[in-house]
Amino acid sequence: MTISQLINERVQAALAAAGVPDAPAVVQPASKPEFGDYQANGVMGAAKALKTNPRELAQKVVAALDLAGIAEKVEIAGPGFINIHLAPEYLARRSEAALKDERLGITLPESKTVVIDYSSPNLAKEMHVGHLRSTIIGDALARVLGFLGHKVIRQNHVGDWGTQFGMLTAYLVETSQAGNAALELNDLETFYRNAKVRFDESEEFADRAREYVVRLQGGDEEVLKLWRQFVDVSLSHCQGVYDKLGVMLSPGDVMGESAYNDDLANVVGELSEMGIVTDSEGAKVVFLPEFADQDGNPAAYIVQKKDGGFLYSTTDLGAVRYRVRQLHADRVIYVVDARQSLHFQQMFATCRKAGFAPANVVLEHIAFGTMMGDDGKPFKTRSGGTVKLIELLDEAEERAYKLVGEKNPELSDDEKRKIAHAVGIGAVKYADLSKSRMSDYIFNWENMLSFEGNTAPYLQYAYTRVQSVFRKAGEYDANAAIVIGEAAEKQLAVQLAQFEDVLATVADGCYPHHLSQYLYSLAQQFSRFYEACPILKAEGETRASRLQLAALTAKTLKTGMGLLGIAVLDAM
Ligand code: ARG
Repeated sequence: MTISQLINERVQAALAAAGVPDAPAVVQPASKPEFGDYQANGVMGAAKALKTNPRELAQKVVAALDLAGIAEKVEIAGPGFINIHLAPEYLARRSEAALKDERLGITLPESKTVVIDYSSPNLAKEMHVGHLRSTIIGDALARVLGFLGHKVIRQNHVGDWGTQFGMLTAYLVETSQAGNAALELNDLETFYRNAKVRFDESEEFADRAREYVVRLQGGDEEVLKLWRQFVDVSLSHCQGVYDKLGVMLSPGDVMGESAYNDDLANVVGELSEMGIVTDSEGAKVVFLPEFADQDGNPAAYIVQKKDGGFLYSTTDLGAVRYRVRQLHADRVIYVVDARQSLHFQQMFATCRKAGFAPANVVLEHIAFGTMMGDDGKPFKTRSGGTVKLIELLDEAEERAYKLVGEKNPELSDDEKRKIAHAVGIGAVKYADLSKSRMSDYIFNWENMLSFEGNTAPYLQYAYTRVQSVFRKAGEYDANAAIVIGEAAEKQLAVQLAQFEDVLATVADGCYPHHLSQYLYSLAQQFSRFYEACPILKAEGETRASRLQLAALTAKTLKTGMGLLGIAVLDAM
């Protein structure tokens, strides 16, 4: 159980004993050190509802409150706040247990099957910066949920189907005939552009492209082979990006739009049988009164076009069925740009209506804002083009390499490259993960690569500083007891104990920035501790205990950074 759940449970029991079982305990970390470590603020609300004196009620609650072995002091403040001072021994034992356990002593929640749909780029072009956020945020969530013992199933719902692929395969035939296919496919961006030029300039080519779409969707082996060739090249580009980014996606996680192709007629068929679809001007639509416009007209969610073709929406319905029926998902998380919000809301509503997702399966759109350039507009190249992701990541490493060289010119080139990779990629990821995902954010190299402030380099450096304490300490007792005396020791231990709470929060609301914020505060707390409580100059048990606190800090930082997908180094 997390520390705040534990305190909450105890205060809740005391509220029940005091005659207000339904009042929320409102337990939270204390806002100031003089208020203790935790506060329970629920008494005022409860007293108001009961029309009784809040201080008297607080006294009754405190009399009934059993925090034996957890708190050393409980006080009533102001109109009826309950301030809880945790017991140093409790924090010491908790820290020791965390140090010994590979999951830092956290209790695993009930394990669920969680499907995470993330990255999911369209394969017609190379991955660009627009795919960065889903890839980074999704990966962090997958790691956190996995760490908490859930069965995480990654689904890379790539866009590998649709009319564009007719054009691309037709162009592939042309370039193959000219003997240029391998060369042209090297740069998918150019390949796409050239195909589009051909499509626009030649009526005959455009007809062929359209014919290829029909053949592709009809399962023509010859065209399918070309299509597969293109998709393979595109996917290997993606894998290159994933490997560089250090995200956990692999070819086995790809479950693209094409995978549902054969099932789409069934999807619409089932909806028809249930009487959920209506023919509207030749198209098949699901009317959703819950998304009515101002005049009360229900929204029309199209599942089949007039020409019989299926859509993005149909594929997503098929994917939900697969995830629920075949993957046995308890929860499905879609990490997709906020601009697709309406699509997901309507898709989820349709799934509920059709029973594709029963009520006990949670469907969530984890939306995020846009990555902006310094000019406050969506991030673009100087000439206004889209920025290829792989080039952005190369630049991150290059910039980090320069910085490392300036800071540590004496390092070997190999070491510089290794550090530059961790710092450059870490900076890009952390810049995203440290901000609330719903807001747009400005992508700024100087800020994200700064060694000061809430950045990856700051945290990576903080980690190496803790490690350097151990290099200087030499042999030490990894089983030594932790003894908490000084205020700075206690504050650090309290913060360390909150790791589990933070993970629970991230798993619940899917906002990784809570973890970033936590790690940043932890690093700062460690600095305060380090200044107030000498480690290496201390002696005997005190020295051993402080080294243990430092070890737990390092372990928590490393684990936390790892859950964000960011590497730490022992030295840099
Ligand atoms: N390929 C889509 C795009 O680039 C994102 C797919 C998200 N996942 C999904 N199941 N719709 O916009």
